[in-house]
Amino acid sequence: MSLQNFLSRLDQLQSDAESAFSGASNAESLEEARVVFLGAKNGQFKDVQKMLGGIEPTDKRAAGMRLNEVKNAINEAFSAAKEALESGGGSQVDPTFDPSLPGTRPTLGHIHPITQTIDHLTEIMGRMGFEVAEGPEVEDPWHNFVALNIPEDHPARDPLDNFYLATAAAGGADAPGETGEGESLLRSQTSTVQIRVMKAHQPPIRIISLGRVYRPDAPDATHFPMFHQMEGLLVDTNVTMANLKTVLRVFANNYLGDDVEIRFRPSFFPFTEPSVEVDFLWNGTWIEFGGAGMIDPNVFEAVGYDPEKVSGFAFGLGVERLCMRRHGITDIRDLYSGDLRFLQQF
Ligand code: PHE
Repeated sequence: MSLQNFLSRLDQLQSDAESAFSGASNAESLEEARVVFLGAKNGQFKDVQKMLGGIEPTDKRAAGMRLNEVKNAINEAFSAAKEALESGGGSQVDPTFDPSLPGTRPTLGHIHPITQTIDHLTEIMGRMGFEVAEGPEVEDPWHNFVALNIPEDHPARDPLDNFYLATAAAGGADAPGETGEGESLLRSQTSTVQIRVMKAHQPPIRIISLGRVYRPDAPDATHFPMFHQMEGLLVDTNVTMANLKTVLRVFANNYLGDDVEIRFRPSFFPFTEPSVEVDFLWNGTWIEFGGAGMIDPNVFEAVGYDPEKVSGFAFGLGVERLCMRRHGITDIRDLYSGDLRFLQQF
């Protein structure tokens, strides 16, 4: 046998042995591979070693040296594979692992029912041409009360009905003198956004604003100190109460169903005149969803509009109530408990 053939046989042996050892997935298959390559009787290494006898005497030295190197390399590959299996690492595959079993699905988070409701309401109102406006949750008394025609001595300003903040938050006031007493509070209604939009834009205006409001109510099945409102505001010329009712009826039919009826009851809000409570007839019962009315001339004056020229309506509906009615949720606290068993149903 030529030296050349002998050496390439050795190379082949080394690479076969190395891949067999490192590919062994457990102690038994590693042992089988060891017998195949290093077995004292019929091991492949032994076979190649025997071929050394047929090498030309002048090549023997070189052939013998290489044989030793390969022997060491194969032995090392075996020890390394053994160690890897014993330490649980390497390419070890759990013998109890069954790749044909269905996997465990990773749990995906999803959108909170209130956010889903907000998206849905935004979509319905968007089809009627209402754009989304936003305002801050930390407000000043001018936007939350004064500009909305809520005078200093009005009970709505009572500290017991509002979250006044101990430190005045930066920003918020539009101009000096518009900050009330310079206090700030968590807004108690989204009507503040009406003021912000009218201060910044000229009519015609057609916006909705969906966001959090805060009132110090003790939590029970229907109250929570934080909840959401959908405010609507439309300002133009010759706007009437009939327009208001049409918009709210179309909205109710889209969100709650074709058979839902709408009813206005006389009410009072400082910032609308006349004012109404809005009820929807749902499964045979009238349910109050919020307030509405025609913008009070004093509000137009506060934002610099001419009440002789423009008219408009506003409404404020409770988002939780809408969401709860639609989905048959009976306790508002469930929405904010963070309990996945509840939330995963939506
Ligand atoms: N802001 C009122 C409330 O929180 C609702 C409302 C909005 C009433 C707009 C009239 C017009 O109860």
